[in-house]
Amino acid sequence: MKRIKCYENSYQTLDEVLDRDLSYIKIMDVGQRYLVNRVLDHIQSRIVYYLMNIHITPRSIYLCRHGESELNVKGRIGGDSGLTTGGKEFAKKLNQFIQAQGISDLKVWTSQMKRTIQTAEALCVPYEQWKVLNEIDAGVCEEMMYEEIQGNYPLEFALRDQDKYRYRYPKGESYEDLVQRLEPVIMELERQENVLVVCHQAVMRCLLAYFLDKTAEELPYLKCPLHTVLKLTPVAYGCKVESISLNIDAVNTHRERPENVNVHRTAEDALQTVPPHRGHTPAAAANGP
Ligand code: F6P
Repeated sequence: MKRIKCYENSYQTLDEVLDRDLSYIKIMDVGQRYLVNRVLDHIQSRIVYYLMNIHITPRSIYLCRHGESELNVKGRIGGDSGLTTGGKEFAKKLNQFIQAQGISDLKVWTSQMKRTIQTAEALCVPYEQWKVLNEIDAGVCEEMMYEEIQGNYPLEFALRDQDKYRYRYPKGESYEDLVQRLEPVIMELERQENVLVVCHQAVMRCLLAYFLDKTAEELPYLKCPLHTVLKLTPVAYGCKVESISLNIDAVNTHRERPENVNVHRTAEDALQTVPPHRGHTPAAAANGP
């Protein structure tokens, strides 16, 4: 009520007759009633749709990646592999963690990829598969190691480092594409209450960036390690974030932006920040195709 008093000092009430030519939406009693006046274009109608879908009921959104996959340990991106033993361990621990949260109405969403489905299966609760939650499509680079991308497509690899958010893989997607693809998920997350989203590294970065208001430059480098749950709880003007590691070892799949992003850089410079993995073959990386 104090806050409303403050608003009254600086805001002016819209008059339904005098202001009938203005575009506006009045939201009454926290979304019990709406008055929508002169919605003129696409953006305005999207704003109305958005405002009609958000709510302030206390809830939490849980974000995590699938358990460690066979391709993760080989340092290969994309593909549709199953979980490693460690990945399966994580899925079991996730079940215990979720049960300990004591949420009766939790919704569980996965992508349509084997690794998120296998993870959700261990929860022994119904879950919903969303195709739009599938991992970023790396196009011609699917199932390659970063070392192989550098070896086969050094120019592409450098261009991605120069502008990771806007860079689109040949025959694949960019983070920018992914953000657009995820819009329906985000809208539905706004509508729902407690939800666990079991997704992928790039997808989780996009969802996290939305809730934490991160920039396009920060988004592709947000840290979303395997076997870690992020619990997001909306609070006034933002989101509280708790990062819970379920303490099951997993390979690191996070590659930082290297210092040198020049298209003429050496392979060594390009590969400087590739995290260690089982499939690492330095010779293949240095020699190229
Ligand atoms: O390495 C796991 C993975 O989920 C890949 O499937 C995907 O291409 C990659 O992460 C996305 O991360 P980055 O954009 O940092 O390469």
